[in-house]
Amino acid sequence: MIRNMNSYPLYDDGKHRVYWLGIEESEDEKGILTNQYLVIDGNEAALIEPGGFFVFSRVLKNVSSLIPPTQIKYLMYSHQDPDVVAGLNLWFEYAPLAEVAVSELWVRFIPHMAVLSAGRIIGIPDKGMEFQLGSSKIKAVPSHYLHSPGNFSFYDEKSGILFSTDIGAAAFSSNEWYLFVEDFEGHARLMEAFHKRYMSSTKALRAWVRSIRRLNPKVIAPQHGAIFRDENVGKFLDWLESLDVGIDVFENEFYGE
Ligand SMILES: [Fe+2]
Ligand SMILES: [Fe+2]
Repeated sequence: MIRNMNSYPLYDDGKHRVYWLGIEESEDEKGILTNQYLVIDGNEAALIEPGGFFVFSRVLKNVSSLIPPTQIKYLMYSHQDPDVVAGLNLWFEYAPLAEVAVSELWVRFIPHMAVLSAGRIIGIPDKGMEFQLGSSKIKAVPSHYLHSPGNFSFYDEKSGILFSTDIGAAAFSSNEWYLFVEDFEGHARLMEAFHKRYMSSTKALRAWVRSIRRLNPKVIAPQHGAIFRDENVGKFLDWLESLDVGIDVFENEFYGE
């Protein structure tokens, strides 16, 4: 297992590029491992799930090796958790032209993180919206209650990559890590406990699966854990559909005899 990795290309057609932004060995001693992604189209870039404080220097270094951070047009946040947003003040400084995209539910809360946020936040309405990036579009796909009440996945139409926020998160033990899922059944064991406890509602989860099947993504890339591609995309959606989570199981889990 190699845990020190720089960015890795997920898609490249010459004009449109998508990268996973690396990992460092020491990160899981500090907190749960996180994935960040960069979408580049022409001279514009979107940083997806920019991440917390202790990953900032690694993410900045890897972004800077691909584009000048001043070309970041959007900092796209699926929800308000610290592992997603805590580096925001730093990104505002290094990406001075970037706007923040986050659920409109969290727009009033973000200023508590970043004193310079006035006029730089796009509140995504509950039904989602589209973002123009160069000649491509990134869709904010409703993912509410999975797990945050105001939560979005981001779908990059050109590459067919769905950035699935915490949906698909896996918690690796300290001696394992891989970038792409190979053995789905083995990987599911690393996802199950997280989904049962952090995802709020089976109904919300099944509605999300239905909407994602309509999009028909080629790749699903979560904010934690490993990336699904090829036949593992379908296996992952089937697995999610069969899962009971959150308020639908809590009574037995917390108060059962
Ligand atoms: Fe989260
Ligand atoms: Fe997360």
